[in-house]
Amino acid sequence: MGNEESRVEVDTPPQTLKARTVEALAQYIRDERAKRIVVMTGAGISTSAGIPDFRSPETGLYANLARLNLPYAEAVFDISYFRSNPEPFYTLAEELYPGKYRPTITHSFITLLHRKGLLLKLFTQNIDCLEREAGVPGDLIIEAHGSFATQRCIDCKSPFPADLMRIAMHSNTVPHCLDTSCAGLVKPDIVFFGEQLPSSFFENRDLPATADLAIVMGTSLSVHPFASLPQICAEKTPRLLINSDKVGDMGSRPDDVLLLEDCDSGVRKLAEACGWLDELEALWAETARPDDPPQAEQPQTKKSRDEILQEEVDKLTKDVESTLNLGKSQHEWLENHVDRKIARRQEEEDEKTVEQRENLKPPDDEGEKRMAPAKEEPGLEHVYPHLKKPSP
Ligand code: OAD
Repeated sequence: MGNEESRVEVDTPPQTLKARTVEALAQYIRDERAKRIVVMTGAGISTSAGIPDFRSPETGLYANLARLNLPYAEAVFDISYFRSNPEPFYTLAEELYPGKYRPTITHSFITLLHRKGLLLKLFTQNIDCLEREAGVPGDLIIEAHGSFATQRCIDCKSPFPADLMRIAMHSNTVPHCLDTSCAGLVKPDIVFFGEQLPSSFFENRDLPATADLAIVMGTSLSVHPFASLPQICAEKTPRLLINSDKVGDMGSRPDDVLLLEDCDSGVRKLAEACGWLDELEALWAETARPDDPPQAEQPQTKKSRDEILQEEVDKLTKDVESTLNLGKSQHEWLENHVDRKIARRQEEEDEKTVEQRENLKPPDDEGEKRMAPAKEEPGLEHVYPHLKKPSP
């Protein structure tokens, strides 16, 4: 039924746009017909920041979690599994903890929409908080799968202090409820499989019906109920997909536009067609950190026809190279972060076993060392004030 519908609709000419192209979409925006834009995102908008997505066949987290000895990959985010074995989650959590990564130009594009007064709402499945880092205001973001901003006991639901959570994250310990009569496991308010989405999601899930443009980026649209959001848009509302591959029912409506490519190059294309590219690059440049490697200069436009063609060929070559490098860097991420941590845990386990066997008392400073805050990292204090460390 769904497929049949898509076939019919794909052949139907667009009703709202002049064509199913990025240029026609940009025209629609320039004509001020897109004033209420909803954006729906997933892990693919953060891969160029260095964070692996979940389901990419070779580089995604789920394809690489065998080393955590999970019964199945998604178990790392499964609440029942977490109850019996929280360590795999915490092994990953430290690496995903906000504050380590720079937003991508795709995140900055969402900020640009907001600065232009066009962003109605951003629905994100991501827990990396990079949208906030990029400057999207918190009240415009629906973090459908929660975030690291708060945490609580999974049994009595008591909130757990942010400063203690940060210490636990960095010292590789699994935190427990401060109420000793409960002592339940503490978990960041990330939505695990088997848990309810936040009420803000349900309160806003009908918003796409009132939007005049939907932009879906970097998601496989495979986890419900988030995956059904694009279908809530009105039939005549243009929907843009920027993603490596075609997902969900995107492409099945007359006013769907597909950019099946890297998110960053896709948003650059749209920004250029809207006449916003310089503004976008400048906005993204603001997110740079002092120790970031310098960015390659963007190509200047409009020379001779031959030069334009040559630039296009160079760009395609670069895209292919960057895709290959991305895969490589995501493998390195897993090797450097997760593997090293597993090895460290194993060493700690071995040390503990030796201590028990020899009935040795742990050295006096062991407790302090494990709880000592790790080195200073760029944080999100400016967006999450409660993450601010208490002054000494
Ligand atoms: P997925 O990993 O399922 O999908 C990411 C999508 O982005 C895939 O279609 C990739 O092909 C695409 N992609 C990756 N890098 C890209 C890039 N640079 N440019 C364009 N496309 C790119 O991630 P999500 O859809 O976010 O849940 O996954 C949804 C949920 O599943 C997550 O929130 C997480 C997971 O289990 C929880 O943590 C509860």
